[in-house]
Amino acid sequence: DQNTFQAIISHCKEYGFIFQSSEIYDGLSAVYDYGQNGAQLKKNIRDYWWKSMTQLHDNIVGIDAAIFMHPTTWKASGHVDNFSDPMIDNKDSKKRYRVDHLIEAYAATLPEEQGKALVATMEQLEAAQDYAGLKALIEENKIACSVSGTVNWTDVRQFNLMFSTQLGSVTDEASEIYLRPETAQGIFVNFLNVQKTGRMKIPFGIAQVGKAFRNEIVARQFIFRMREFEQMEMQFFIRPGSQKEWYEKWKETRMQWHLSLGIDPAKYRFKNHVKLAHYADAAVDIEFEFPIGFKEVEGIHSRTDFDLKQHQEYSKKKIQYFDTEINQNYVPYVIETSIGLDRMFLLVICAAYAEEDLSTPEKQDSRVVLRLPAKLAPTKLAIFPLTKKDGLPELAQQLMDECKQHFYCFYEEKDAIGKRYRRQDAVGTPFCVTIDHQTKEDGTVTIRHRDTMEQERVPMSEVRNLVLNKIL
Ligand code: GAP
Repeated sequence: DQNTFQAIISHCKEYGFIFQSSEIYDGLSAVYDYGQNGAQLKKNIRDYWWKSMTQLHDNIVGIDAAIFMHPTTWKASGHVDNFSDPMIDNKDSKKRYRVDHLIEAYAATLPEEQGKALVATMEQLEAAQDYAGLKALIEENKIACSVSGTVNWTDVRQFNLMFSTQLGSVTDEASEIYLRPETAQGIFVNFLNVQKTGRMKIPFGIAQVGKAFRNEIVARQFIFRMREFEQMEMQFFIRPGSQKEWYEKWKETRMQWHLSLGIDPAKYRFKNHVKLAHYADAAVDIEFEFPIGFKEVEGIHSRTDFDLKQHQEYSKKKIQYFDTEINQNYVPYVIETSIGLDRMFLLVICAAYAEEDLSTPEKQDSRVVLRLPAKLAPTKLAIFPLTKKDGLPELAQQLMDECKQHFYCFYEEKDAIGKRYRRQDAVGTPFCVTIDHQTKEDGTVTIRHRDTMEQERVPMSEVRNLVLNKIL
């Protein structure tokens, strides 16, 4: 629900995960900065994806293409002509809305059947690009979007989502370039470079992580829909005709990746696309149940040979592969897996966030804990000397030195141990170790587990491997 979502947003800010961009200037809408804990968590998610896609697949390699690309790229890909949404402006408030968001939000307030019928009508009008019809639909239903009374609407127009800027100092049309709205095209235009230099044999994949930009018209949904975000995409090049088989295989592989994080499978589902993007012959979303409902986190698309063929046509360079097994030249087909890193971050935080009541008959108590998978947690181990004296900080420092080469550790000697534990719970640190007077006698420490809050005594010399075993 909205309350949980708001609590998660506040938590992200309070504990240094996510800040509004340029907050001192009242922020920039749908743009966010990652703080000290957020940057590390995001990096861990990115690395987990990268490793599973490249290191663990013999036939997938990674690249890092530039954000700026030759402007013809986006003519060829179809983004200049097709990457737009129908929008409408409220002339009085000067607010702009995506027509589908506006109508869907209104439909959700109607009795179910009526709402469904309205959305179906909208989809038909959208498919027919009947913009006058869409405006009439909004007016007939008196869709006012939290403004009472009638609204003075503009006409419905298509609004391209790409940001553009000028390359070099000349401001003519020819120097206009775009910030990439997806990372995929950097892979398509490098298909031959990678295939030839890497002597890759089909089927093979190219993976990439990087920023993408879209001038989204957004409802306030935190980092769910951003204007600057990161994508983790993989294009898998295959023999024409084998796309059904590989599509199913990647659907399964990607769902398994999600489940490998130990997140409740009941929170995941597949949703087939009814309306296909201009490049796809089949497409499915992996959806996750966020506090704001089931929403897309990842798309798996069967992109046919659309992109490579388009680049072949626009660049006038042959983009083909000679398949020695069947002695044939062809333009490969592509299965794409595309996941938003920021959206995955939101998923991980939402899945991990828990408010727990720990009250006993004697005492009221509660905690907020992030039950992050240990391999994703920003800090793996917190090390606490029980007191600031008697040589305990020195022993703690010794353990720090031993462990910090291997994983992120956090050292703290202020406040009661209980308070220090709670602060680590709130940032998702899976293990805390306390060094006390007994450590000096027998070399053992107390290790405390975040999720169960159980504590056990173990030799200090075993701490490093104990943690390493849980994070690899
Ligand atoms: N190359 C295919 C492609 O870009 P998409 O469905 O438009 O497909 C893929 O985007 C993924 O990127 C989405 O599933 C989502 O996780 C993420 N994404 C897209 N737009 C986003 C935005 N405005 N903010 C955050 N993540 C976004």
